[in-house]
Amino acid sequence: MSLIVTPRHPALGAEVRGLDLRRPMDAATRQAVIDAWTRHLVLVFPEQPISDEEHVAFTRQLGEPEIFQQTSLGLRSDRVKEIFLVSNVDKHDRLMTPAEPSQKQLSSARQWHTDSSYLPTPSVGSLLHGIEISRTGGLTQFINMYLVWEELPDALRRQVEGKRARHDFGMMSRLVGSPAPSGAERAALPPVWHPLVRRHPVSGRTSLYISSIYNDAVEGMEEGAARRLIEELSEFAAQPQYMYRHAWEPHDVLMWDNRCTVHAVTSHDPTERRVMHRTTIVGREPVVAA
Ligand code: OGA
Ligand code: MN
Repeated sequence: MSLIVTPRHPALGAEVRGLDLRRPMDAATRQAVIDAWTRHLVLVFPEQPISDEEHVAFTRQLGEPEIFQQTSLGLRSDRVKEIFLVSNVDKHDRLMTPAEPSQKQLSSARQWHTDSSYLPTPSVGSLLHGIEISRTGGLTQFINMYLVWEELPDALRRQVEGKRARHDFGMMSRLVGSPAPSGAERAALPPVWHPLVRRHPVSGRTSLYISSIYNDAVEGMEEGAARRLIEELSEFAAQPQYMYRHAWEPHDVLMWDNRCTVHAVTSHDPTERRVMHRTTIVGREPVVAA
């Protein structure tokens, strides 16, 4: 099978055709997908009407699918436990309001982040399947954090070099006012420290590593200054020359690298249904400082 890979933006993001995600990949095809991913950071697979089971099976060919730890808000599918529900429709097919706890928590994704960075070995990548897509907004935006690191002004560079930031799952609820994690969830997810400047295990390239919805501290800095630094870094990163903005079509599947990109979704009309299913590839190694 030969893949047709077409860049969608000079910084990152490429469309991949010539692959049926429902079929197992042979070794050469799998390597071609990984090579395209290493090069483009975000892959768009258009017209892939996969079931949840096929979504998980495809993910398994790339790594182990994560099972979301938190069960209290209904964000994890009851039917297929590896599926994380990025949806404003509940299991009875009713539209939820933005005030509902699960929707508040999902609203954190409007701020720049990388998935599962609060784990000791954060996720490698995520695969998001657009089932019911928004036409009023709901664009998923990605930033190439290699480029951001290369072009980071010296004053900011000096503040992050050789330092670590803390990532706390509970930070997200403090930020958006969603329910705080329970005692058991907190015990299972203690805050972790990761280098702010990291080396990618496959490409060997250096990137800035921040996740603004989870970062609540930076080594050697007072709390307010640390938060301001993370915001300043996010603001520098969020420039059009570093960013691919994905406007969804039904049954697009997006696969992004959580080790060298951040992402954020734009808001949309909350009376419009938006149903996306995600798998997340478990990280196998700690974040290595560059
Ligand atoms: C995610 C996420 C983006 C979106 O699934 O990890 O941040 O487009 N969602 O909903
Ligand atoms: Mn996310």
